[in-house]
Amino acid sequence: MTPLPWRRRKRPAGTGTETGTPAEPRAEADPHAPATDVAAPVDGPRRVEVRGGMGAGGDIEGNAIGDGSTVHRITDSRGVTIGDNNTVYQHFHGEAYAPLARKLISFTDLIADKTAGFVGRRFALDAIDRFITAHRSGYFVIEGEPGVGKTALLAHLVAERGYPHHFVVGALGVNRAEQFLESVSAQVIAAFRLDRPSLLPVEAARDGVFLSGLLTEAARSVSGPVVVTVDALDEVWDSGDPRANLLYLPTRLPDGVFFVVSTRPRDHADLRLHVESREFFLLDAGSAANLADVAEYLEVFAARPVMRALLAAQRIPTAEFVETLLGKAEGNFMYLHHVLPAIEDGRLGASGLGDLPQGLQAYYESHWRHMRGTDSELWFAYREPVIVFLAAAREPVRPAHLASWTGLPTGRVQDALRAWREFVHVQDGRYRIYHASFRDFLQAKDEIGDISLMDANRRIAADLKRLLFGDGLP
Ligand SMILES: Nc1ncnc2c1ncn2[C@@H]1O[C@H](COP(=O)(O)OP(=O)(O)OP(=O)(O)O)[C@@H](O)[C@H]1O
Ligand SMILES: [Mg+2]
Repeated sequence: MTPLPWRRRKRPAGTGTETGTPAEPRAEADPHAPATDVAAPVDGPRRVEVRGGMGAGGDIEGNAIGDGSTVHRITDSRGVTIGDNNTVYQHFHGEAYAPLARKLISFTDLIADKTAGFVGRRFALDAIDRFITAHRSGYFVIEGEPGVGKTALLAHLVAERGYPHHFVVGALGVNRAEQFLESVSAQVIAAFRLDRPSLLPVEAARDGVFLSGLLTEAARSVSGPVVVTVDALDEVWDSGDPRANLLYLPTRLPDGVFFVVSTRPRDHADLRLHVESREFFLLDAGSAANLADVAEYLEVFAARPVMRALLAAQRIPTAEFVETLLGKAEGNFMYLHHVLPAIEDGRLGASGLGDLPQGLQAYYESHWRHMRGTDSELWFAYREPVIVFLAAAREPVRPAHLASWTGLPTGRVQDALRAWREFVHVQDGRYRIYHASFRDFLQAKDEIGDISLMDANRRIAADLKRLLFGDGLP
């Protein structure tokens, strides 16, 4: 059995200086070690039934769990995936910790989506590891503009190392402190085998005290670092006490505990993360290291058979393609996420790469104009209302909801959703805006009066009121 990296050796007490100041390097900590106690599969994947724990009917795909085993995918009794071998979720298997899984928010799909085709980021991973090695504890705060790749970086880190994690996703309604506190507390208890009751107490969701206690225990139980990742502090639903940290993140972290968090750039004084030790790291779109990763991504893409044929037909050398797109994308991965598939299927760039929009906002604007320009009846009657209501909704919604709010037949709503497919994400029949940067673009349209999110909000509220109270009541 591969030992848990955090169980190797206990760190001698009292090393290093005060929190946040560099400590002696901890040679025993190996941040690259896999964070789960699994070894390579012995005889390939197979399905075994879960006994106890996740409820009758739950499933594990992979080798039988236990020492020297690998779990590929775990589903609970509802058929919902709650984990795979890249995450900490498998620690919930077994009598002791399974009930805690109810408080777990599974990010398996998000992690898979964000890490598909992942390239580079060595420089950022090295910076994280240097911080962990050089400090006794603290917050490593990754900053970067929308679409530069913060979520993808943290998803990669979690997939590689199995750190306890949380991703704030405003569009999913996963943006409240109690969701973070409960999910991460459950992960820390299960991953570090803490001796706690198998159900979280109510105070776990109340403030940061319970989680702080768990982190202290976790750090004491292992020699290596305890690392927790939290993505998108900028998307946290900020309704709490202005003096409290976002998500009630602890002010002082115990020795050996590190948070790797991300946010869009904020004035550092305004970021509600008042902690004893924090270091900022700018994931800078224009930096040479980031541009090298973008170039690598472009090279991989240009080597795809369809792209090779397309470039050959247009007599564009690969190097020219890479260089032009590198300039157009301005170091932004979200730009590539939209534009490259559009080039590949001939929707963009057919008349020359020079005509491609410059930067992500320009791309959104050109797509907006294109959608609007083709047929104004189609636009005003269907496409615009559907995307506006989707932006106004605070969580993923079914086409039937959109139909009810817009007064359109469901079939028409589905046609419009198909037209917006690049910008929407669908899961289990529910739709949401794919990326926060497109929501921001729509917000800007709202501010200049092109669309009215307020009207859409009113309509949604009226619909909800009708549902709850019927037509006769106020
Ligand atoms: N290193 C990478 N390799 C491959 N694809 C990447 C990489 N980084 C980001 N991407 C892709 O680019 C897109 C945008 O990245 P991501 O969502 O991580 O941006 P972000 O910085 O989190 O933006 P926001 O601030 O709006 O949340 C995603 O679809 C992601 O999969
Ligand atoms: Mg993000």
